[in-house]
Amino acid sequence: TLTQAETLVVTADALLDVKSGKRFSSPLLVIEDGVIQRIGMGKDIAIPDNARRLDLPGHTLLPGLMDMHVHLTMDATLHGYKRLAVSVPRATITGVKHAKATLMAGFTTVRNVGAGGFSDVALRNAINAGDVPGPRLFVSGPALGVTGGHCDNNLLTYDHQVTSEGVADGPWAIREKIRRNIKYGADLIKFCATGGVLSKGTKVGAQQYSQEEMNALVEEAHMRGLTVAAHAHGNSGVKAAIRAGVDSVEHASFLDDEAIALAKQHGTYLSMDIYTTEYILGEGEKAGILEESLAKERVVGKTQRDSFHKAVDAGVNMVFGSDAGVYPHGDNGKQLSRMVQFGMTPLQALQASTINAATLLGQEKSLGSLEVGKMADIISVKGDPLQDISLLENVNTVIKDGKIYKSMP
Ligand code: ARG
Repeated sequence: TLTQAETLVVTADALLDVKSGKRFSSPLLVIEDGVIQRIGMGKDIAIPDNARRLDLPGHTLLPGLMDMHVHLTMDATLHGYKRLAVSVPRATITGVKHAKATLMAGFTTVRNVGAGGFSDVALRNAINAGDVPGPRLFVSGPALGVTGGHCDNNLLTYDHQVTSEGVADGPWAIREKIRRNIKYGADLIKFCATGGVLSKGTKVGAQQYSQEEMNALVEEAHMRGLTVAAHAHGNSGVKAAIRAGVDSVEHASFLDDEAIALAKQHGTYLSMDIYTTEYILGEGEKAGILEESLAKERVVGKTQRDSFHKAVDAGVNMVFGSDAGVYPHGDNGKQLSRMVQFGMTPLQALQASTINAATLLGQEKSLGSLEVGKMADIISVKGDPLQDISLLENVNTVIKDGKIYKSMP
């Protein structure tokens, strides 16, 4: 043959099958063309002589982690009015730094849900072209929302005439925005179904967009083959979004029994950012978060953790979504221990951040678990993460597409 594809062979103490929770001892993986070609136990597999080897004694291999809610182009130290001084080109460069930090933390796939100027599309394309290191990105472009809502920018007075790019009122304006986002490279649609914590002058409990508008939004997106992620804290907005047929609800802070029953009935995924409250209440003021937002967070953070527990107990589909960007990128893994603290088993927390996320993305055939034929997105930790989930805060090895980005055995 003229060209010999490089073969990578990885061995470790154990491999965790996130689907079954089974730990396999002494695994050996053969990787070629970025894909897992064979998985065997130790000496059962003949190793090609020209193969590169990565031996990880004492380590457990897992699929790369997946975060369904990040904002790579946002800086956690610049909130509120401080963010007004950051241009789209500047935010894009910040995104390059954050993409690397996220990958090095073991997150090999993330969903970027809301960015101005299609900076997220540029970042995704640069990563895919190999210009800069980063996770696989699925991006939304500008998030859609009502005038004056959470997805608008309400910091400046009328004199400045500032409106966010994703603002659209009424079914046809919404459909036009979706078509525009698709034209410029969006992989999915993000919209705001209620007010938020970090926006000025919005109520977390109040629905934004009528049922009619949400129905049109989801119909248009699905017709074009895109999934929909809805930001929603309050109950009525959560329910309207689920009834409209969204694929995931982000935050989902206030959940009554009916909201949980609807999520189960529709198979909707909940992406609940239950770590970020610790950063907002601890560091937020310094970072520029407004007092009115801190006041909202004092209520939302606690309620959201109770809702998380209820949703887990009820068996709702859950994915890992952290809202990194509100807090520092690279700290994504800290949320896993909170998910266990608030009701999940360690295996459920790992499933939420791997196979469930892959399924939400429609990528379950190529991502989300370590199986022959899937992409070689692999991480390792020292020890058994089912015994201590916080091990995922210190990922030792990161392989994406069969390429080693980090290895500190
Ligand atoms: N981006 C979200 C918002 O402004 C952050 C909410 C964070 N708080 C929480 N408890 N999850 O609404």
